[in-house]
Amino acid sequence: MKILVIGSGGREHAIVKQFNASPSVDKVFVAPGNAGMVNDAQIIPIDSMAFEELAQFAIENEIDLTFVGPEQPLVAGIVDHFTKHNLRIFGPNKAAAQLEGSKSFAKELMKKYNIPTAAYETFTEVDKAKAYIEKLGAPIVIKADGLAAGKGVVVAMSVDEANTAVEDMIGNQLFGESSSSVVIEEFLVGEEISYMSFVHNGQIYPMVISQDHKRAYDGDKGPNTGGMGAYSPVPQIASEVVELAYNTVVVPTVKAMEQEGTPFTGILYAGLIITDDGPKVIEFNARFGDPETQVVLPRMTSDFGLFITALMNEKPFELEWSDAEMLGVVIASAGYPSDVQKGAQLPNLAVLEEAGLHVFHAGTKAGTEGFIANGGRVILVVGSESTLKEAQQKVYIGLSKLEWEGLFFRKDIGWRTFQ
Ligand code: AMP
Ligand code: GLY
Repeated sequence: MKILVIGSGGREHAIVKQFNASPSVDKVFVAPGNAGMVNDAQIIPIDSMAFEELAQFAIENEIDLTFVGPEQPLVAGIVDHFTKHNLRIFGPNKAAAQLEGSKSFAKELMKKYNIPTAAYETFTEVDKAKAYIEKLGAPIVIKADGLAAGKGVVVAMSVDEANTAVEDMIGNQLFGESSSSVVIEEFLVGEEISYMSFVHNGQIYPMVISQDHKRAYDGDKGPNTGGMGAYSPVPQIASEVVELAYNTVVVPTVKAMEQEGTPFTGILYAGLIITDDGPKVIEFNARFGDPETQVVLPRMTSDFGLFITALMNEKPFELEWSDAEMLGVVIASAGYPSDVQKGAQLPNLAVLEEAGLHVFHAGTKAGTEGFIANGGRVILVVGSESTLKEAQQKVYIGLSKLEWEGLFFRKDIGWRTFQ
């Protein structure tokens, strides 16, 4: 099989590696990829939003399957475009990708089908939003309706902070069109988990769960980011809770999408808070999480290429996972997520690989010596051991051997499971 992976982040590096490790896969291409993927795939310099160019590449190179990493091309209809050309592609079409692309679409779906989520209202006017904030009080959560690279959420601890968020988003168009409408919702308390499933035509294959760290700094302080580190499994979450989430969230959502005439194919990512009243949805994504994928997908021991083919052909498949426990730490450019200072020289990453760690490249480019930071999140370093504690120690010992000038990382990834 020949595979084309679309995207250029750490998540896509994990997808590329997983296909590359599949005996069923002969060749992997990635567009546009990044410099750090060169040993795992052939890098094709086509932008992930250039649908026609990508489709022509897939036709000319007889690609058997295209796999889409990021949300932007999905929400803009890359699957519809490839399908028109009779190309096989894994991901939701434009209509189904609204589950991620519009928070109000997702919220209305959950309301209609009784899928547990935080109470909410949607607003397009500052005054009405402020009146609602006044009524609910703080803490309260303000979310840009559209895509904002994981940064469009403000968990406001005071009414003032919530009012400012609303003024920024609706009034000052902080996220442009994405924040001309905002969802304001109830603040939920509990552990967070990322629960992802492979979905196609009503078939659901849930993955092992993971936990992300959304805040930029240690102790879960600072602004929300795309994610600063993750681990899998999540031992403090009982398997009964995961089963409950499967039955009350995953299955009903897949059914609801079918009933709405927008059946879902692809990765259904449920971001959940485990409250005293059970799991509740804080967001849906229509694709793999980043950095969760880097600690979940490598735990799959089945042939990834065979699995996706079986899923799309609606053939039963025994999906298997290893007992290895994985923990990954993001190295970010100074200033991330707001004022990203790109251009830092990365140290010799071979030192990490020689220590048995896995390095996933997110925002790197080739320099005269090694790699240069070329994005907010630069690399993710993963330890894979028989316990999370060992995995964590291994990552931090590895990181302590190198200099990270112009870069930073959290020192406490995994803290909730060790407390
Ligand atoms: P999201 O991008 O929707 O996942 O939100 C980013 C982060 O904000 C989440 O990972 C949570 O930590 C937090 N968050 C979002 N919604 C809520 C909520 N209703 N209650 C408490 N925290 C929330
Ligand atoms: N790490 C969260 C996300 O991918 O949306």
